[in-house]
Amino acid sequence: MNEKLYYPNKELAKEARIKNMCEYNDLVEWAEEDYEGFWAHFAKEKIDWFEPFDEDKVLDESNFPFVKWFGGGKLNVAYQCIDRHLKTRKNKAAIIWEGDRGDKRIITYMELYKEVNRFSNLLKNEFGVKKGDRVIIYMPMIPEAAYAMLACARIGAIHSVVFGGFSAEALRDRIIDADAKVVITADGAYRKNKPYMLKPVVDTALAQDTPVEKVLVVERNNEDITWIEGRDFSYNELIQSQSGECEPEIMDSEDPLFLLYTSGSTGKPKGVQHNQAGYILWAQMTTEWVFDIKENDTYWCTADVGWITGHTYIVYGPLAMGATTVMFEGVPTYPDAGRPWKMVEEYRINQFYTAPTAIRVLHKMGEDEPKKYDLSSLKVLGTVGEPIDPPAWKWYYEVVGGGRCSIVDTYWQTETGGHIVSPLPFATPIKPACATLPLPGIFGEILDPETGERVPVGEKGYMCVTKPWPSMIRGVWGDPERFVKSYFGDVKKDGKPVYFTGDGAVYDELGYITITGRTDDVINVSGHRMGTAEIEAAIKKHPNVAEVAVVGRPHDIKGESIFAYIVLKSDEGLGDEVAQVKEINNVIKSEIGNIALCDDIAFVPGLPKTRSGKIMRRILRAIAKGEAITQDTSTLEDPSIVETIQNKVKN
Ligand code: WTA
Repeated sequence: MNEKLYYPNKELAKEARIKNMCEYNDLVEWAEEDYEGFWAHFAKEKIDWFEPFDEDKVLDESNFPFVKWFGGGKLNVAYQCIDRHLKTRKNKAAIIWEGDRGDKRIITYMELYKEVNRFSNLLKNEFGVKKGDRVIIYMPMIPEAAYAMLACARIGAIHSVVFGGFSAEALRDRIIDADAKVVITADGAYRKNKPYMLKPVVDTALAQDTPVEKVLVVERNNEDITWIEGRDFSYNELIQSQSGECEPEIMDSEDPLFLLYTSGSTGKPKGVQHNQAGYILWAQMTTEWVFDIKENDTYWCTADVGWITGHTYIVYGPLAMGATTVMFEGVPTYPDAGRPWKMVEEYRINQFYTAPTAIRVLHKMGEDEPKKYDLSSLKVLGTVGEPIDPPAWKWYYEVVGGGRCSIVDTYWQTETGGHIVSPLPFATPIKPACATLPLPGIFGEILDPETGERVPVGEKGYMCVTKPWPSMIRGVWGDPERFVKSYFGDVKKDGKPVYFTGDGAVYDELGYITITGRTDDVINVSGHRMGTAEIEAAIKKHPNVAEVAVVGRPHDIKGESIFAYIVLKSDEGLGDEVAQVKEINNVIKSEIGNIALCDDIAFVPGLPKTRSGKIMRRILRAIAKGEAITQDTSTLEDPSIVETIQNKVKN
């Protein structure tokens, strides 16, 4: 709370900074005075429409929260990201790709056009993919992942990218929920100079009944894989004969663009649906505003395309604005913790965007690494995905950014499509570990869930958005009720339900917003969002597990780590806890993937429950943190269990 303000880049005249902030204020005011006019202006200015939207249908809220933006408009997102740039940027690098082992590819906008068109033709002509069909993309970080997404967008198919770290089970669940008939994958890729495989995971996922008819395999590492006749096809072979011209499908503003599965506090992951116009508009606008990318800049976001950050800020946002986007296959600490800084020097990166976990790891493993490289090209440094702590922020600011760069702590979610709270570089004075102000056009407010009023300075409330915005989630695939219940069921302002993010937040004296973390049973491990219910469901698949409760525990590097309390059915095998832990983690590995492995498991004789059988998670969280129990335990069915668990955890 009491951190000072930072004004990076002193050379940037004070007047310029004031001017930038005035512009921010003007935009905010404009959106307040004429909300639809504000959005209509940018929609007209930023999007190359095939047919303009109807001025009377900028926003249709009649069926709130099922809203519609830019009614009557026709467009194509791949056209917006590629074709329209060919006039002026044909030979500009669209994607600069670097492989794990240092191999490189530069893809110009003209080349991207050809590649995406060929890919589109392949999907249409060889695989029979049509507008509205769902296509699963299970890929490593290679340019073909971006081609696949854009090819789907071009032909009007709905892609659903599944992060390559998810297990066969998790992949299968998503395939079935999305009712997808095609999977695009790769044999595998490289990590730390070793091949790792994806195709075998797809084989396992498809071993039982699924709607998938065809699998397209990009051959990246050329390791041996199994080919199933009639189902599996080689991209490298089929692509050769495809034409480099493919007419973009004419799409309505509200046709679905993609689904991306994300964790909630209950049940299975939800297929978050984003639609065409609103999503691409805000992806482009926020990339322009928040990263301040100039025509000759090179921008690098280290996310994976399997997450929303990779969708919006590696692929769609930068390409929609005609920028050069860097895509990296490897990990930031291989061959050493200087890798990202070496790449910044080599490509003269101007904007660098990563997660706090990566910053903490790079800090810990190579405090002085940045000093070995010329990082003078950097202007804007971004963070995303989880709260950043002041020490990590300051290292990023001072050592990586040399005190010159603006740090943009961008707060948003899969559901928001793009940033909603973030500083604007060289405008908003910045504060360590603080996302600062809502972006213009976003009515972000911290509300008291009881009264729906704005909370006073210093008091925790719920982070909400009180007006629908263009890139807002349009639905949970196949489950409209869950959509309404998950996001519009908790907070009302002036009697009307508003969008609740699931995060807690607090205002400071300047009106700046600091996100304090989830208020629900979602935990954030290394910036990966995970539902405790999902992990519990996985652990319960182990035949010897009677009961389980999973909580998050603060972790120096990962932000949070996963802590499971498990009651076993029989004590047999308990003698060897190491083996038992391994077994549990193996179940998680096959049900979800390595990203959900437990750091701690405590085998306990029972869980603290109320008389009505509700597990008191707050107590379990406190025990995991090693905190004293402050709440009344007398209402528990068996109050003595608390001490038993405490002793167990201490040991
Ligand atoms: C958290 C990632 C603090 C938050 C883009 C949110 C953050 C969840 C920040 C969404 C930030 C994201 N500061 N917390 N700057 N950015 N979060 O859907 O809890 O993978 O609800 O989207 O990450 O995670 P998701």
